[in-house]
Amino acid sequence: MLKLEGLTKSFGDIVAVDGVSFSVQEGEIFGLLGENGAGKTTTLRMLATMLKPTSGTAKLGKYDVVADPEQVRGSIGILFGGETGLYDRLTVAENIRYFGELNDMPSADIKRRTDQLSAAFGMQDYIHRRAGKLSKGMKQKAAFARSIIHDPGIMLFDEPTSGLDVGAMREVHAFILQCKAEGKTIVLSSHIMNEVEKLCDRIGIIHQGRLVDVGSIGELRAKYGGDSLEEIFVKLAEVVR
Ligand SMILES: Nc1ncnc2c1ncn2[C@@H]1O[C@H](COP(=O)(O)OP(=O)(O)OP(=O)(O)O)[C@@H](O)[C@H]1O
Ligand SMILES: [Mg+2]
Repeated sequence: MLKLEGLTKSFGDIVAVDGVSFSVQEGEIFGLLGENGAGKTTTLRMLATMLKPTSGTAKLGKYDVVADPEQVRGSIGILFGGETGLYDRLTVAENIRYFGELNDMPSADIKRRTDQLSAAFGMQDYIHRRAGKLSKGMKQKAAFARSIIHDPGIMLFDEPTSGLDVGAMREVHAFILQCKAEGKTIVLSSHIMNEVEKLCDRIGIIHQGRLVDVGSIGELRAKYGGDSLEEIFVKLAEVVR
């Protein structure tokens, strides 16, 4: 369970995130949707304790992002699109192992989980190749596997499928849905409408740092009309502009 209350982040004069409140239950996937610069990444970075809120609070499970950052970091898996953070000179398996060790995982558990994730993401062919030599999509899948090696209860994914081809995207989607079935709490941001429609139980629409609406796709569709989430989003953007 995850709960934000009035979460705010200013950078000088810019209020990047402005009093955002929502909660996400176990076994729920919450999607953050908004145009470029809306404040999605900044919100996720505060949840991940990478940025300190200017005001407001966020709790992940029983831990507070400001009071208990270490405990928060131990209970989350994070993946920020674009920045894989892999060590180029290490193989995929070594990258994953290193991260597992940082999270105090026993060696046998790291091995078992690496095999499981390698199969889930079809990485068997390149698991022992150096990360620096891989394609963008291969790196993204490796980074995805690494981020969840410790089987965290809460997962924060900022544009998790950016740069992936259709097949890889489907593997990641299937995996995220499996995590949900296991009762994980998941927050993700995305620009891909059908990804959001396929994965998310509820969606928060963020515009200029403010959460302008929250609901299931069905609820948003009933409220704003329009068939696809894309149409709903365009209509809503007109309303709040
Ligand atoms: N470190 C920073 N210093 C100054 N301003 C920042 C910083 N990080 C983000 N911002 C500003 O905060 C606002 C929100 O940015 P953010 O990256 O959260 O948007 P986003 O919704 O993730 O956009 P995108 O869809 O392009 O990824 C933008 O105006 C951005 O310029
Ligand atoms: Mg972003």
